[in-house]
Amino acid sequence: MLRGLKTSKYASQVVSNPLGSLDPTQRAWIEVSGQSIEHNVREIKSLLKKGCQFMAVVKADGYGHDAKFVSQNAIKGGADKLGVATLQEGLNLRSEGIREPILVLGNIYTRKDLLICFQNNLMPTISDIKQCIICNQIGEKYKKLFYVHLKIDTGMSRLGFDIKNFIQNFENIISFENIIIDGIYSHLSTADALDASNENSYANIQRRRFLQLLSNISINKYPNITTHLANSAGILIDKNFHFDMVRVGLCMYGYNPSQYQMNLKLKPAMSLKSKVSFIRIIDNKVGVSYGKNFITTKKTKLAVISIGYADGIYRTLSNKISLLHNGKTYPQIGAITMDQLMIDITGANDINVGDTVILLGCDEGKSISPVDWASAASTITWEILCSFKNRLPRVQI
Ligand SMILES: Cc1ncc(COP(=O)(O)O)c(C=O)c1O
Repeated sequence: MLRGLKTSKYASQVVSNPLGSLDPTQRAWIEVSGQSIEHNVREIKSLLKKGCQFMAVVKADGYGHDAKFVSQNAIKGGADKLGVATLQEGLNLRSEGIREPILVLGNIYTRKDLLICFQNNLMPTISDIKQCIICNQIGEKYKKLFYVHLKIDTGMSRLGFDIKNFIQNFENIISFENIIIDGIYSHLSTADALDASNENSYANIQRRRFLQLLSNISINKYPNITTHLANSAGILIDKNFHFDMVRVGLCMYGYNPSQYQMNLKLKPAMSLKSKVSFIRIIDNKVGVSYGKNFITTKKTKLAVISIGYADGIYRTLSNKISLLHNGKTYPQIGAITMDQLMIDITGANDINVGDTVILLGCDEGKSISPVDWASAASTITWEILCSFKNRLPRVQI
């Protein structure tokens, strides 16, 4: 194992053999920089409205970076709370010894699951009075207050109380003796749009709906209720979107969520690396990989790289990406296969079997970002980050 590098739970899944355990950097791996996460949290916090809290969104195993590692470094950087998507993700963090407040952003609706949530000190998102009644009964039975966040649908049409009849619901809920409303929140659906900062943008319409609702329930009377609306893109629009807390995912991992230039110096936390496993020279007019959809136009030196779509690299990226080695880029050619892909290294004399190549990350001033991959694959950066499989050990630096 490399000195100074720690592997996460993924690598510990690698079964040791009689000769010793496998080096996690033996084939293909993801490096996660804890310092970058910490830096990004500090950098984003410097942009926030004074007193605004920071919720680090670590769902989907910290967008593929390892939720425990991200949480620990986000907390070092000053994160106040954590957000997960599922009950299991919350339980995992609790079993890893994370003690910070955790909000489950997904919907928990059965009595059994709400009880598990309560017993593990996780806060559920509530979108319905029935869930509140159950939470109140649980609190009463166990003689302990149940902390919850109420969600309002201001236009995303996903979770949340219907904004039109929220006031009656709120008046009921506030009278429940065994519930503490820790937060009231909503979620933006178009904060990354180019026009988001326009007065009449949909993001601003959602913001005004949220503000109106808070005023209708006289939120000033409840200083302990934390109001929150913005995701990463929402934070960047302007401070009016910050409310009492922001919920940050993509920016914390170091990437721009919007279609416009952002005013933050973020450091990408993830690098994706692999090894050259074989080098060969093939003739002109020879097909490369399945389907022969790439035919050489010259005598070509190929390097075979030990990573493929079973590691989470979309096959639709075939012939559309480049890899880095010693600060130079080399085009990937032919169909990406399940476990391997090929790059054209014609003319390079400094590449050898066993060398490391960079698929995502920086090398001698050049960088390749998941944002580039997302546009090449006609998807979004979030999906690229979440696509990497557990077969790739996460190495913590
Ligand atoms: C409710 C909620 N809040 C916040 C976030 C964080 O979003 P982002 O990664 O864009 O910051 C998400 C992620 O999808 C979410 O579902």
